[in-house]
Parts: sequence; C-alpha cells; structure tokens
Amino acid sequence: MPQRSTSVQFTTIRKNPETMTADTWVVGLHAGLRQTEALRDLDRLFNRPVLEWLKSRGFEARSGQMLSSPAPAGSRIQEVLFVGLGKPGKLTRNRFRGILGSVMERLVRAGNHSVVNTLTALPLEGLPATWRIRQAVEATHDALYRFTECRGTGGPVSAPPHLEKVHLSLGPDAGPESNLRQAIRDGEAMAQGVRLCRDLGNRPPNLATPRHLAAEARKLAAQNSRFRIRILTEKEMESLGMNALLAVAKGSVEPPRLIVLEYRGGRPGQAPIALVGKGITFDSGGISIKPAAAMDEMKFDMCGAASVLGTLQTLSLLNLPLHVVGVIAAAENMPGGRAVKPGDIVRSLSGQTIEILNTDAEGRLVLCDAMTYVQKNYKPRILLDAATLTGACVVALGHHPSGLFSNHDGLVRDFEKASQEAVDPVWRMPLWDDYQDALSSNFADFANIGGRDAGAITAACFLWRFVGEVPWIHLDIAGTAWKTGAQKGATGRPVPLFVQYLLDQARAAD
Ligand code: BES
Ligand code: MN
Ligand code: ZN
Repeated sequence: MPQRSTSVQFTTIRKNPETMTADTWVVGLHAGLRQTEALRDLDRLFNRPVLEWLKSRGFEARSGQMLSSPAPAGSRIQEVLFVGLGKPGKLTRNRFRGILGSVMERLVRAGNHSVVNTLTALPLEGLPATWRIRQAVEATHDALYRFTECRGTGGPVSAPPHLEKVHLSLGPDAGPESNLRQAIRDGEAMAQGVRLCRDLGNRPPNLATPRHLAAEARKLAAQNSRFRIRILTEKEMESLGMNALLAVAKGSVEPPRLIVLEYRGGRPGQAPIALVGKGITFDSGGISIKPAAAMDEMKFDMCGAASVLGTLQTLSLLNLPLHVVGVIAAAENMPGGRAVKPGDIVRSLSGQTIEILNTDAEGRLVLCDAMTYVQKNYKPRILLDAATLTGACVVALGHHPSGLFSNHDGLVRDFEKASQEAVDPVWRMPLWDDYQDALSSNFADFANIGGRDAGAITAACFLWRFVGEVPWIHLDIAGTAWKTGAQKGATGRPVPLFVQYLLDQARAAD
C-alpha cells in the first residue's frame, strides 16, 4: 500500500538555540575558523574552548566537512553537528543547498527526531531569509523521501525516518513573520510537487502506463475546482490527425493518451502558459530497439510528464493566480507486428509529414503533436516543454544542468533567473537554423533524426518546426530527471524550476 511520507513540523526561532530541546544542533562555520558569538555560547555549553577542540580534531570548515560532538550530560541537546561552509565568498546558492541536503540526509539516516538548524540564520549575500528557509524545507523533504510503494515482505528492512521537528534559526535580517510563514508554505508545496514527480517517475512501467498517468491527472484535477481536465483517447486523436503521436503507440498494447489539465487561476481571458511533457511510460526503442543494458531506466522516459503534474500540484496548493495548461503526450514505445517501422511516413497534426528513420527518436514525435494541439486550442502566451529527449544531451552536459533551447532571449533571461533561485541548473544550447539541414528527407517534409552530430540540438530543431510565433523553451532533462547507480531514482527536476518561474510570473503580476 502506498505509504505517505512522514510529516515534519517546521518552526522558525529567533531566540538563542541553547534554550531549545532537540536531538541535534547544527552549527555552520566558515573556513579560516574565527571566534564567533555562536562559538562563545558553545564554549559555555561544553565548558571548554570549542575552537581549539575543533582544530585539534582536524576540522577546518572545508565546504561540506562535518564533525559531530555529543553535548555534555544535562544539556537540552544531545549533540552538536559542526558543518564546514568553506570560504565565505565561495558559498554559492548551489553549495548552500548541497550542504543543507547532506546535513539533513545524515541526520535522517541517524534516526534524528528533532533538529535545530542554524544554517538558515547565516547572512548570505543577496539571499533573503525567506530563500534560506524555503531551501531548508525543500532539502529536508528531499532527504526524507523514500519510494516504498513496491516493497513486499521479502525486501531489506530499513527503519523509516523519525524526523518530527525542524527548528530553523533566524538572523537579524529575518524580516516579517508573515513572509517567513509563507516561505515555509512555499517550501512545503514545492516538496509535494517534487514528491509527486518522483513517485510517478519511480513507479514501475507495468503500473505507470499512459492510462495510469491519466488517472493520476484526474486525481489531481479533483483536488481544486480551478482545474479542468480533458483526456483524449486513441479514437479522438485519430479523428484529429495526431498521427505522429499515434505512430509511436502502435507497437504497444497499452493505448496512448493525450492529457490536458488546465489550471484556471488567472484573470478571465488571460492567455495561458503551456507546459508540455514527454510521457513515454517505457521506451524500448521500438523496432530500432535499444541494447539491453540499463533498459529498465527507460521507465523514467515519462519524467517530463511527471514534472508537469508535479508543477500543477504545487501551483494548485499555492492557489497561484495564473492560467496554466499542462499537456502530456503519453504512450509506450514497443516493437511488434503492428509497430511503426523505419521508413514509415506519417502526417503530423500540423500537416507536416515526417519520415520516421529511427523509431527510437519517439519523444519528438509525441511532443510535436501535443505542441501543435496546445497552440491551436489554447493560444498560449508562453510555451514550455520538458522531455528526456536525447542521450546526446547527457553526453554534452552530463547530469548537472538540463539543456535549454529557446527562440526567445527575454524568456531565457527570466528562466535563468528562476533556475538560479530554485537551484535547478540549466545551460543554454544553440538553436540555430544551420542545424536544420540535418533533418532533410528524400521522401517526406523532413526526417525524425539528424546524423550523429549535435543530437540534442537537431532534436530541438525538430520540435522548433512545430512552434509558431510563441516564445518557447525546450528543456532536455535526459541527464537530470533521474539518477543512475546506487542512488537510482527520479530527482523531481525540473519541478523546482517550473514552479519558480511561475511564482515569479504570478507575484510580479500583483
Ligand atoms: N528516451 C531517449 C533518450 C535518452 C536515452 C534519455 C538515454 C536518457 C538516457 C530517447 O527517446 C531516445 O532514444 N533518443 C535517441 C535519439 C536517436 C535515435 C536520434 C538517443 O538519444 O539515442
Ligand atoms: Mn527513444
Ligand atoms: Zn525516449
């Protein structure tokens, strides 16, 4: 049975942390170790010069370094966890969030019930207390996340997390209480969207089918009266002429779905922001079948779709005054007697014909029809898509930033700002006409693959052919949507980025 993650209570504290009862008190120190007020308080607590002791134990406050010390008997706290922050000038948002994350992971693993986190009191240049608080809330939920839905009786027994209370210290720059409470609510809402995205991504592909995604979207729609939902079946897509999307689904016994989940929180008549997600619930490659190694990870090929639902979940929890339409192109890509073949030509919803030279380049085929559909029917003012589109993007950028492609510099500026704020990195790639020639076909308007070169860019160029005048961003999340290896699992990206962009839009408007 699905098990909800534990609920944690967050509070902000202005008083001296020493007066708090907790398992652990987290103290951050910069490299160069200088005497601070907090350290002098600790001298009294431990009844010894803490700075000397830290140095004698080889603690230099290198970025991410941690050293724990049990508190003296009779204290209200059990231990103090010293955390290195590195050189003050080098403490970027990324680092800060990374340190918060590893601290919370360590404490959760240790079975902590309660924490006083003083990292949120640190004055970080240009970063308000509300930002620090929200990051702490998000990092805590990330650390608490477990995917246990599919555990039976025979698996490893690991203790569930015990964390109940997190007290977040405030510095002199904290600002009004109402803003801090909102920051906690924002963080909680973000965490729920991220969790939905991770859960959907992690579910096995025999469960998480296109129909399952449709059912999940229906559940979400039922949570807020601002939602309208429309789910197109195969028949409806046939009569509309969405033959590119349908071609991908032909080899599978699982029927495809086009899920349209509209959130109407904006002014009546306001043009929506469209969010389109690739929802390939399993990508075997089709007739152009993939090699066996790590093929299981192609269950994550619907993470773009999952991020659309996660984003809408957060949006709805925050009741943002925006008009957003989420569209999910959901299909399973399988080989079979009825499957689409290399050489097949299809007429897309846009009227453009496509020669399918490789059935493994299926993401762009389902996306192009979804993008045409949303432009025709909703006239969006902004078009965003997220897709685990190409292995080439992973070769180019690795697993840190998502690849960003756009036809509009102004939109990119807003997006890059949101990306930094959300600590959800992106890197812009060239989207130039020069690359379009790679898609030429002798038999149709164009082909669905280019050559070996610049695979992430030629994939974006393919999508570009289906974008009208609207400012558009395509995110290739192939390297960022999930982790491989021992930590295998969905990351929830790019939900933080999408949500931050939408928050900026909503809060700039009022
Ligand atoms: N879903 C894959 C992309 C992918 C592969 C993401 C590996 C993450 C890890 C996509 O559908 C695909 O198969 N793309 C092909 C395109 C090629 C046939 C032009 C690829 O990247 O190899
Ligand atoms: Mn593929
Ligand atoms: Zn794919």
